[in-house]
This record gives sequence, structure tokens and C-alpha cells, in this order.
Amino acid sequence: MPLLMHCSDSPRLDAETLLITLLEQPRSYLFAHADELLSPLTLTEFADLIERRLLGEPVAYITGHKEFWSLDLRVSSATLVPRPETELLVEIALQQINVLSATSILDLGTGSGAVALAIASERPECKIIATDISAAALAVARSNAAHFRIKNVEFRTGNWTKPVASDKFQVIVSNPPYVEAGDPVLADLHREPLSALASGTDGLDDIRRLADECRAIIEPGGKLLLEHGSTQEESVADILQEHGWQNPRCFRDLAGLPRVSMAEWEQDPINNQ
Ligand SMILES: C[S@@+](CC[C@H](N)C(=O)[O-])C[C@H]1O[C@@H](n2cnc3c(N)ncnc32)[C@H](O)[C@@H]1O
Repeated sequence: MPLLMHCSDSPRLDAETLLITLLEQPRSYLFAHADELLSPLTLTEFADLIERRLLGEPVAYITGHKEFWSLDLRVSSATLVPRPETELLVEIALQQINVLSATSILDLGTGSGAVALAIASERPECKIIATDISAAALAVARSNAAHFRIKNVEFRTGNWTKPVASDKFQVIVSNPPYVEAGDPVLADLHREPLSALASGTDGLDDIRRLADECRAIIEPGGKLLLEHGSTQEESVADILQEHGWQNPRCFRDLAGLPRVSMAEWEQDPINNQ
């Protein structure tokens, strides 16, 4: 346990999560059986899991799953581990789906399927398309949809809007890569796919592309919702306005940090494909 403090902000939680995964018990078991000794075999297996964590592997990759919204999602090293702050993107998307009575939704860069599946589970009447450039990530997303018997998400592989070039959407959401090249945080996250995290020298290359490409596939009056870094609020607003998106507005996460920007498209879609 003391060693985990050097590689994790939540050493106790990590150790408990690894132990209950090994014991195949709920967390309450640890408190009800606090005096119980582990068998030598379980102790060895537990030490192996701790060693993997010490080497920087995220807990979710070791256990193979991560809770997001109310879904216990399967994850793998091909997918980003869904972050709690991304639930804000889901929350705002659900609000906007209500405001627009929207039924056509797009999640770009779906990874494990977290955002698309969370929206789909709350709005079964919506048709959601979820894309990713990584076929391996989409295989995980498809298996999550099958596991939760979520039928209103269609998955497509490809580079940003290419797989949906002939469709139109009322709400487009994305949690794209947005970390600056050379940001020290990338070293801490070295087990997760770099292609899911980094986006050019200022971290905004993919947001620029989305602001550009989404203009061709948005319905008039539709909304674009983008997650971004906590220092990128103004740059994202500038990028959105430069591309003709209107009324950019930023929402803060539970830590009070600017996290999701939203803008509207008032005109007909731009034919820039
Ligand atoms: C930050 S992760 C978000 C994953 C998931 N939406 C979530 O919130 O947990 C970004 C995702 O975008 C995908 N991606 C990166 N570049 C892409 C591109 N050019 N076209 C489509 N998807 C891309 C990555 O594979 C990754 O799954």
C-alpha cells in the first residue's frame, strides 16, 4: 500500500478495487471480513496486480472494466479509460436532446462507447451513430452495446466525419484528443493510446478539424458539444466562431473547471466534404 502512493492519487481505493476483483466480491465484503487473512495463493495474485499498478497500468485495464454513467463498461488498452468529467458531456447532450426534441445523434471518437451508450441508455427513441478511427476500440464498444442490449447505436469505423459524410445530425458530441504535445501528463498516461489523447502542438488540431468538418453534417439549428482541456475554453470558442458556429458557451465540471463547449449551427450545412 505505501508504494502505491507513489504512482496513484487513490492508493487505498486502487488496492481495494484490485482485491475485490480478485476475490470476486462486492466492496462491502472487505469491511465485513476485515480480520480475515488472505490465502498464500490469493496474496501472491494480489501482489501481482499491485505490481502491474505500480508499473503504471490503470486499474481499469487490470480489472477490464470501468463504471461510467450507470454502465459498468468493458475497457481495453485500445480504449481510453472513460473519465468521470466526461459525464458532463452526456448530461448536456441529454438536455439538448430534450430542447431540440432531437432523435439523430452522433458521437465522434467513441472509444469504449461510453458517451454514445450512456445517451442511448437514457434516450431509447434516439438513433445514435458512434464512430472511431480505431477498429480495436470499436470492437470493445460493440461488445459493450451487446452486453447492455443497447440496440439504438450504430458503430462505424473511420477518420472523424468520413464515415457519416452523407448523414445529418441534430446533436453532435465528441470527446476528442486534446492534450498538447509534450505535456508531462502524457507520461503519466503512457498506458493509454496516444492517439486518444494528444492532438498537435497546442492540443487543438482535432477540435479544429471537428469545427470544420461538422459543418457539413449538422442540421440547421443543431448543436455541437465538445469536451476539451480546462485551459482551452477561450481557444475553443474562437475556433468555433471562426468556423461560423454561433453562441459558443462553456460548461464547468464538478471540479468547477471549464470542460465542455457547445455551439449552434443556424444555417444550412456547408458542403465542404
Ligand atoms: C479522448 S478519447 C475519447 C473516448 C470516449 N469518447 C470517452 O469519452 O471515453 C478520443 C477518441 O477519439 C478517437 N480518435 C482519435 N483520432 C480520431 C480520428 N481522426 N477519427 C476518429 N476517431 C479518432 C480515439 O481513437 C479515441 O477513442
